[in-house]
Amino acid sequence: MCGIVGYVGPRPVIDVLLPGLTHLEYRGYDSAGVALIRDGSMDVIKTAGRIADLVALVGREAPRPAISGIGHTRWATHGAPNTVNAHPHTDDGGDVVVVHNGIIENWAILKRKLTEAGHEFTSDTDTEVVAHMLADLSDLPLIEAVRQVMNQSEGALALAVMRRSEPNVIVGARRGSPLVVGRGDGENFLASDIPAFLEHTREMVIIEDDRVVEVRPGSIRLIDLEGNELEPEHRKVEWDLEAAERGGYPTFMLKEIHEQPHAIGDTLAGRVSETGRVVLDELDIDPDLLRRIDKVFVVACGTSYHAAMMAKYAIERWTRLPVEIDIASEFRYRDPVLDERSLVIGISQSGETIDTLAAVRYGKAQGANLIGVSNVVDSALARESDAVLYTRAGPEIGVAATKTFTTQLVALQLLGLYLAQVRGSMDPGRIEVLVREMLRLPEQVELALGASGEIERLTRKWKSVRDYFFLGRSGDFPVAMEGALKLKEIAYVRAEGYAAGEMKHGPIALIEKGVVVVGVVTDSHVRAKTLSNMEEMRARGATIVLVAEEGDDVGAVADHVVRVPAGPDLLCTVTAVVPLQLLAYHVATARGLDVDKPRNLAKTVTVE
Ligand code: M6R
Repeated sequence: MCGIVGYVGPRPVIDVLLPGLTHLEYRGYDSAGVALIRDGSMDVIKTAGRIADLVALVGREAPRPAISGIGHTRWATHGAPNTVNAHPHTDDGGDVVVVHNGIIENWAILKRKLTEAGHEFTSDTDTEVVAHMLADLSDLPLIEAVRQVMNQSEGALALAVMRRSEPNVIVGARRGSPLVVGRGDGENFLASDIPAFLEHTREMVIIEDDRVVEVRPGSIRLIDLEGNELEPEHRKVEWDLEAAERGGYPTFMLKEIHEQPHAIGDTLAGRVSETGRVVLDELDIDPDLLRRIDKVFVVACGTSYHAAMMAKYAIERWTRLPVEIDIASEFRYRDPVLDERSLVIGISQSGETIDTLAAVRYGKAQGANLIGVSNVVDSALARESDAVLYTRAGPEIGVAATKTFTTQLVALQLLGLYLAQVRGSMDPGRIEVLVREMLRLPEQVELALGASGEIERLTRKWKSVRDYFFLGRSGDFPVAMEGALKLKEIAYVRAEGYAAGEMKHGPIALIEKGVVVVGVVTDSHVRAKTLSNMEEMRARGATIVLVAEEGDDVGAVADHVVRVPAGPDLLCTVTAVVPLQLLAYHVATARGLDVDKPRNLAKTVTVE
């Protein structure tokens, strides 16, 4: 996720771009840059760091006045977040300049072809291929050249492009990643999101997927990827600036919950082949080494630990390797036995959690190999790992992890299947079936989000409930744990996540009328046993809510059933957690709490 802004018109261009980028900083903030064009000259100014660093740099470099410009705030997906990889990117001759949001899945093939044709690349980004491809199309009008580039590029992307020889034109294109035009009087704006131009205009034009738009001071021209002219559709923005930054959602948490289908699509992008194989070329680790591994340790904290629980089930089931999981802050103190044949997987969305870093350092010191799973490119965990798998969820502002959890689950499922593939522990046909099912997850999560209204109505009845249990077995157990953590941290009510079968060994003493028990029943091989455990809770007066797959006849046990789309065991964790995120959200908002900034918590915990 990155932020794009563009402006063409009579105002001082830099005074539009920099505030616009500041309003888009929620989309990413590891590096930033601008490009400005006037009368055949182009200035590109960019830096690692935040928009404030770019503002300071622009102040020092004092760019020439311009008539058009584009800007970018980056959330790295390809290449470390440094100045060279910061956008904008240009071709060898500095004639074309591009900013980009999204992932160009076939960038490696495109880059190879361009390199063979003599183009020299300066960055490690996927974006730079666009600049070089456009340079080869210099005889075409820019809009036509961008249309051709879009037709050759795979994946979700949004672009804004300028060319020195067409100084009063910005061309944008969109497929899967957002892009809108702000329509002014004798001026126009292009941006990833409305806040970038809302202080200048409330008139906008929606750009649909697979469209290319040409923006000049006095005109907006829209074409499709076949080159057909289209009529731009005008809209008026009704939100204020603050609401617009949250995309119209009342909180960042709700926005991030709803971003999950897109985020999961990004996690999967380019990581599976057409033949149903897992392709993790980015995982820079010798397959022979992965074949020699005889034990896996997974370490993480909080929500990431719940992803580790799922990873244990997946890796053991698919590779038959023994897997130990540890809460990172406990790992070192039990003297675990590791050696050169051990694989440590450290999971941390921020990549900066000190407990997790200490745990993986301990593992490395014993000679183990380390794979990091992180959302933040070039985080401490990423830098210290032998290989890293990024979750690509984009920045998460709400303190409660939501989209970063579901993307962790998906990344770890990919990793589990990849290990199975490399080690030959699973039939390739079975891997292919699961890979194809994984590709349905974005659509299935979208369906699961449809239960929001129903869950809100349900939770309205629970204003006085003080005790919740979340129960599950096998793959449903980590989901239950995550449901309980979400409710505790944002609604401040007691919620226990428990293995359903363990309740009878003590905690069942707490069950009485007025307690809400949420059972997760998506893992088929423990379904019957979980349902029996839920009967035990019901017999003692608890209100029973079940999260169950569409079509599964579980109704008799429950006071209420929330449905999620049916899917294979373990993959279902991704959809099953969505109703629980929504449940926590609605309980907390009904209690009037600030879900984005719950008390006593910090997004990243850098103390032991
Ligand atoms: O950045 P990390 O994934 O290492 O963070 C770990 C935990 O601090 C984090 O998951 C925390 O539990 C969240 N507040 C959960 O919503």
